[in-house]
Amino acid sequence: MSEIEVRHLSKTFTQKDLKVDALSDININIEKGDVYGIIGMSGAGKSTLVRCLNYLERPTDGQVIVRGQEMGELSEKELREARMKIAMIFQSFNLLQQKNSIDNISFPLRIQGRPKKEARERAKELLKTVGLSDKAKSYPSQLSGGQQQRVAIARALACDPDILLCDEATSALDPQTTDQILDLIRQINEELGITVVIITHQMSVIQKVCNRVAIIENGHLVEEGKVVDIFNHPKSRAARELILRDAHGDNHAFMDPVEEITEGKKIRIVFTANSAFEPVVSNMILKFGQPVNILKANTKNVGGVAKGDMILQLPVDRKTRLEMEDYLKERGLEIEEVED
Ligand SMILES: Nc1ncnc2c1ncn2[C@@H]1O[C@H](COP(=O)(O)OP(=O)(O)OP(=O)(O)O)[C@@H](O)[C@H]1O
Ligand SMILES: [Mg+2]
Repeated sequence: MSEIEVRHLSKTFTQKDLKVDALSDININIEKGDVYGIIGMSGAGKSTLVRCLNYLERPTDGQVIVRGQEMGELSEKELREARMKIAMIFQSFNLLQQKNSIDNISFPLRIQGRPKKEARERAKELLKTVGLSDKAKSYPSQLSGGQQQRVAIARALACDPDILLCDEATSALDPQTTDQILDLIRQINEELGITVVIITHQMSVIQKVCNRVAIIENGHLVEEGKVVDIFNHPKSRAARELILRDAHGDNHAFMDPVEEITEGKKIRIVFTANSAFEPVVSNMILKFGQPVNILKANTKNVGGVAKGDMILQLPVDRKTRLEMEDYLKERGLEIEEVED
């Protein structure tokens, strides 16, 4: 049994005579313990999909089955109960501004009718889990964005959820803070066994924490699978675009082109677990004595091994180019062609 099963889900918004097909026939399975990413451009239908998972939005068609229970069959009261176990965090944190951290985190427990003292004890434990024990008395306005998101995460954990839904939870944060929050989410997934669904428009977020990913475009599921497979061998145009855009975009590891792009074939190389333990591109340039432009690089050094990808422009000469490609492949790199 999957933790979340989405079957033939469609959602159409109707306003007067205007119809928007936000989601069309989406099928996905999210397994217990997954950190499942849902990625797509703005307006693709990501938020609508995640809101359908906890029935904040009622699908027009299809089913959402959470831990074996069809959400559409639940009464309003049962739905409210089910939602306690499906926590959610947002881009804008959504904390209560007039309450301090402890009271924000206690809030869902108080609503459930738990005694004040018990709720506050639990809130203190959770503040420790998210690394904010010293901010118990602080109000949201006195906290940084990252700290506010930590409080929101602690609040989301208050009712011991099975599932945590994150809708662009790191989009308002800088790259370092994003990494810290993603680490925390991963820790929650591993230590508490909570299944996580992450909505984002950034491939880098998916790459950092997710094991599986669904790519949504114009309300359609265009590709789904393991993150490593899709990152190394994207099949859909949408996946390629998201990967390439991220290499240009707000990634701090990205470098400017060394030289102006003129002509020559562009390839994308991906460093995998099998990649050689050496500065592959510099060695290749030395060996062949021919220039290679690094157009984009999105790599980091993990324990002496390169991880990530690069876009290279190889020489025009076909023979050298093919030899270079072989050279790279022999060193365990994955290669793909890039169209302009
Ligand atoms: N309540 C609503 N009424 C009418 N149309 C809506 C409603 N909510 C969403 N839509 C439409 O459904 C489509 C998908 O919206 P959605 O918010 O799910 O996109 P998204 O992928 O989350 O985008 P973003 O990355 O900008 O948050 C859009 O065309 C949007 O205008
Ligand atoms: Mg959205």
